[in-house]
Amino acid sequence: MIPQRTTLGAAFLAALPFFVAPATAGPLASSKRGLVYVPNDKTRGDDSIWVQQPSDLTWYYNYKDVPSPVYENLPQSKFEFVPMLWGGLDNPTTNMTFYNKVAGLINDNGINISHVLTFNEPDGPSYYGGSDMNSQTAAEIWVSNIIPLQKLGVRVGLPACTGAPSGLTWLKDFLGHCSKLISTDKETKNCTYDFVPIHWYGNFDGLASHMGEYAAEFPNKTMWITEYNLANEELEPTQAFYNISAEYFDRLPWVERYSLFGSFRSSVSNVGANAAMLSAGGQLTDIGAWYLGRPGTGVNPKTGAALPSVTPQATLALLAALFATTSLLSF
Ligand SMILES: *[C@@H]1O[C@H](CO)[C@@H](O)[C@H](O)[C@H]1NC(C)=O
Ligand SMILES: *[C@@H]1O[C@H](CO)[C@@H](O)[C@H](O)[C@H]1NC(C)=O
Ligand SMILES: *[C@@H]1O[C@H](CO)[C@@H](O)[C@H](O)[C@H]1NC(C)=O
Ligand SMILES: *[C@@H]1O[C@H](CO)[C@@H](O)[C@H](O)[C@H]1NC(C)=O
Ligand SMILES: *[C@@H]1O[C@H](CO)[C@@H](O)[C@H](O)[C@H]1NC(C)=O
Repeated sequence: MIPQRTTLGAAFLAALPFFVAPATAGPLASSKRGLVYVPNDKTRGDDSIWVQQPSDLTWYYNYKDVPSPVYENLPQSKFEFVPMLWGGLDNPTTNMTFYNKVAGLINDNGINISHVLTFNEPDGPSYYGGSDMNSQTAAEIWVSNIIPLQKLGVRVGLPACTGAPSGLTWLKDFLGHCSKLISTDKETKNCTYDFVPIHWYGNFDGLASHMGEYAAEFPNKTMWITEYNLANEELEPTQAFYNISAEYFDRLPWVERYSLFGSFRSSVSNVGANAAMLSAGGQLTDIGAWYLGRPGTGVNPKTGAALPSVTPQATLALLAALFATTSLLSF
């Protein structure tokens, strides 16, 4: 992620036909919500929080090409794993690691992988978590690993650039290189994709404006907002941002999915304590609970609250109850 505060201004927003003034209603139940989550060895008890019921979360990604072991027995139909090709491969034209992993999940493990994400913030430096990739190299990897997956019927997302202006430039360069690689003397071809991932750290106006800019550049494609939050702000504006964005994403038919960057404890958050979905003690904050489709907890992300914490044993029991109808559970 890269904190991003630029906005294109109200004039640009007003010019967008699909920009609708946000309503003030609170969070609603949503089938678009997913989890972006990297299990942390120091707080493994948190893993089960995201799959306790009731929950609105229907899918997850972990920046990797294979499921998180703790969730790998959950059926795709309940909690869909979306593999990601995070960054470079040592030989872009011949290294088939990503294709082989995903095709293996489908063909050998019988897992219904229906979507993949590609390159995490390739326009961003590695010290901010970007994969810092040259767009030519990325295009070569797309041709070797992604196009064969499309032939298996997997829907693919464009690379997920940062919210900075470098993102769109990078994507245009990438598509240009990709087109050159697959075109022949006789025929000009374009690389195809099914949805456009968006990352955003900043306020709501900036987010809506950024989405508008991408919608104009990639017409008739759906969007996935795969990382977003209002970073390093006070609690009230952070919660207001959460509410208004969730309502916006849920209302727009061309937003297919979204995942809030915040499934960690406030004590390890790199987007500010108030943006985290867990308190320092591992309790769901208001935003965390709302994101799962539940009433707020009143837990202050910074201080934590006196609510009892959920034990891993209790959550495993809940999980077992949830998935008891399938034969796939094997913790
Ligand atoms: C966000 O929505 C929740 C749930 O509807 C509501 O209780 C809360 O007051 C809202 N907060 C802000 C700042 O909009
Ligand atoms: C493919 O590239 C990755 C990343 O550079 C590397 O870890 C892996 O060993 C390579 N695989 C093969 C088969 O060369
Ligand atoms: C695989 O998943 C997709 C989308 O999640 C769904 O439309 C499709 O029906 C699933 N296929 C099977 C065989 O379950
Ligand atoms: C490829 O994309 C370019 C730029 O968007 C467009 O002008 C062109 O018509 C496309 N070509 C094909 C064959 O789709
Ligand atoms: C987008 O979809 C609309 C309605 O289906 C169609 O009229 C329009 O030509 C499409 N635009 C592009 C650029 O594909």
